[in-house]
Amino acid sequence: MRIIFPLALVAVFGIFALVIVGFAYNWVSFEKPLGEQPVAFPHDIHAGSGLGYLSDGTQVGQLNLPCVQCHLYVEKSRFATVPPMQVCKNCHQNLPARTSEQQKLKVYLDNNEAIPWVKIHNVPKHVYFSHKRHIKAGVPCESCHGDMTVVKTVTRVRSFEMGFCVSCHRANNAPQDCWTCHH
Ligand code: HEC
Ligand code: HEC
Ligand code: HEC
Ligand code: HEC
Ligand code: HEC
Repeated sequence: MRIIFPLALVAVFGIFALVIVGFAYNWVSFEKPLGEQPVAFPHDIHAGSGLGYLSDGTQVGQLNLPCVQCHLYVEKSRFATVPPMQVCKNCHQNLPARTSEQQKLKVYLDNNEAIPWVKIHNVPKHVYFSHKRHIKAGVPCESCHGDMTVVKTVTRVRSFEMGFCVSCHRANNAPQDCWTCHH
């Protein structure tokens, strides 16, 4: 008894400590700045459909491009992928590089050099995720990434923890057995 009680106390505190560390960890990884992109690519200007502002304050009409014009594989593979430089070149080789961000872009395009985008979203290696299945089932990008047509800078609006995935699967009668997402 004299030994078990302190042990139980340590165990309880241990669990508390883990929970707190867990929260702190989530909070940190959720709030921490994500690192600058090599070019500040504005989603709102390209994917939105109203009016927007460039980095130098010029007002321009937004282009209303479909996501799949740039994220070429989102409907047909696990990964959405970021666009190859040629997709940007198609338009930007004919546009004046009037802002400093467009000038940065121009250097990559002139050198035919791939832009080293920093990846923002991740799931751990032990998790299987596939875009294709979700897009085919009609799950909108917004459910997991927020409304990308209004943002300048990509951030994580959801932390992809297990509860987030499983609760949507439950609500939609999608598979919930462990090996669906862990194989
Ligand atoms: C369908 C044509 C089109 C495509 C494709 C396109 N853009 Fe643009 N982009 C534009 C237009 C139009 C503007 C507004 C430019 C202006 O009015 O000076 C713009 C603006 C920009 C700006 C300036 C933002 C600012 O606020 O300074 C950047 C940076 C940019 N695009 C990067 C990219 C990158 C990177 C890609 C490829 C992933 C890309 N664009 C693909 C047409 C396009
Ligand atoms: C059901 C949730 C969900 C939906 C819906 C979804 N995504 Fe994702 N997305 C994720 C997850 C989870 C990751 C991280 C995947 C990884 O690390 O492999 C991700 C990563 C990405 C990435 C970067 C990595 C990659 O796969 O190339 C892009 C780009 C992306 N998503 C675009 C989109 C677009 C565009 C749509 C809609 C056409 C969309 N996503 C719909 C959950 C989703
Ligand atoms: C003109 C090309 C273009 C269009 C259109 C576009 N994107 Fe992107 N997207 C990019 C580029 C370039 C990046 C990488 C740079 C960045 O993260 O800002 C990116 C990054 C992302 C990421 C983060 C990927 C990561 O690293 O985890 C998501 C999510 C995403 N886009 C979703 C969307 C959705 C949803 C739409 C449609 C509403 C869309 N995009 C339309 C070019 C585009
Ligand atoms: C907004 C709702 C939603 C969210 C969030 C969501 N899913 Fe799904 N998922 C679905 C639906 C609906 C299906 C069923 C697709 C079908 O019937 O083909 C599905 C199917 C799947 C499948 C394919 C199942 C199979 O049998 O092949 C996998 C794997 C999967 N999801 C993993 C994930 C992971 C991992 C996450 C979290 C990062 C996630 N999902 C988040 C709605 C969601
Ligand atoms: C719909 C997808 C999905 C299903 C179904 C699912 N998981 Fe997970 N699981 C995840 C994701 C996503 C993560 C990563 C969580 C993170 O990174 O925070 C995860 C993480 C885990 C971890 C690592 C610990 C953690 O929380 O990060 C374990 C253990 C685990 N899952 C076990 C299970 C078991 C057991 C089942 C069946 C009862 C199951 N999972 C069903 C998506 C799923």
